Amino acid sequence: MTIWEAIEERHTVRQFTDEAVEEEALEALQERIRALNAEFGLKLSLHANEELQLWPGMTLFFSSGVENFILLAGPHGSKAAERVGYCGANLLLLAQQEGINTWWIGGTYSMKKVEGEAGGELYGVIAFGYGKEEGKPHRSKDAMRVSRYEGSEPEWFSRGVEAALLAPTAMNKQAFMITGKDAVVQVSYKAGAFSDVDRGIIKYFFEQGAGKENFRFADAE
Ligand SMILES: Cc1cc2nc3c(=O)[nH]c(=O)nc-3n(C[C@H](O)[C@H](O)[C@H](O)COP(=O)(O)O)c2cc1C
Repeated sequence: MTIWEAIEERHTVRQFTDEAVEEEALEALQERIRALNAEFGLKLSLHANEELQLWPGMTLFFSSGVENFILLAGPHGSKAAERVGYCGANLLLLAQQEGINTWWIGGTYSMKKVEGEAGGELYGVIAFGYGKEEGKPHRSKDAMRVSRYEGSEPEWFSRGVEAALLAPTAMNKQAFMITGKDAVVQVSYKAGAFSDVDRGIIKYFFEQGAGKENFRFADAE
């Protein structure tokens, strides 16, 4: 599965079967996590065959079988939060390519239970496994409302925005603005509970759609 197919086919799934995730897929995720932690200074960790305790309302009404998850932890601060978003997005798409469904959970789980295991500030979790269904596309804003390119808009920019609009955001807010000029791209996100994490996710999806070689982010470190 190409990365573009993964972008199009990924949707949040909240109900999982009890089938164990294949060893090969777990290893691929584990290896990617190791590399991301090393490159971005994060504390992402994989937990397979371990139940994630959700808020009771969640399990009653719309979720089940969350027995695999990735803890998204790292240092404190908005830069680290953005990196968590960027790296978590990378893992969502890798999982999709491995035939695994995912659910990004910002807050509706029992943090107390896992905080000790996280080893850093906990920004959320990604639950994963084989979905009972594949999920469905989210309602989406129009590209015109969330992006602007000064001058004639290049094809890569439109593709990047298209990918960003397929990304998950907290409560599906899609409160981002992507602007571009002379192959320099700026992504901003309306301030809110998960805005730094969401901005990181949007940057990763944009980059996958646009192609890293075509532009640079204005705030690249
Ligand atoms: C940072 C973040 C936090 C989220 N937190 C929750 C959550 O606490 N509970 C939940 O059910 N879904 C949560 N979601 C999932 C979003 O609701 C979902 O991604 C969004 O509605 C878009 O749908 P899609 O993922 O199918 O494209 C979260 C997503 C993100 C990116």
